[in-house]
Amino acid sequence: MEDKDRTRLIEIIEKFKEDGLISVLQKIQDVFNYLSPETIVMVSKYMKMPLSKIYGVITFYHHFSLKPRGKYTIRVCKGTACHVKGGEENLTRIKRLLSIKEEEVSEDFVWGLETVACVGACALAPVVMINDEYYGKMSLHKTELIIDHYKAIEKTGEYVKYEDKVS
Ligand code: FES
Repeated sequence: MEDKDRTRLIEIIEKFKEDGLISVLQKIQDVFNYLSPETIVMVSKYMKMPLSKIYGVITFYHHFSLKPRGKYTIRVCKGTACHVKGGEENLTRIKRLLSIKEEEVSEDFVWGLETVACVGACALAPVVMINDEYYGKMSLHKTELIIDHYKAIEKTGEYVKYEDKVS
């Protein structure tokens, strides 16, 4: 870990430790994109907490990641309702559009593709999430439009919500 990253990490721990472990881990992941082993050891040291407890929290919450994630993490729901309504076809299309496989991150760390069990939005099946945004009733065409939308965001650096763009 570079010195500037170590300094930033210590600042985060000191600033958020009063709010508890989850707040600290959340902020570290926001800044560093994932929770590296070195980071976790630092959290343990500065919060005087056993590593086992920290790993217990990280592995309990799906939100936390021990591996580098893409800037845009795409989660395709593989629950039954989504599967029946074409989730698998959407997954195949996304893999082709981004040239990545399931549970992979692109070489430039822009895209990550994960599959998840039911995300609790079955009425909107098939569902795809990109970071914290939900996209429902995903046809193959809508899948392509949304991926193009995020590619445009990446290219221009300007974030526009997909719904705002199409409305
Ligand atoms: S099965 Fe996909 S949201 Fe429930």
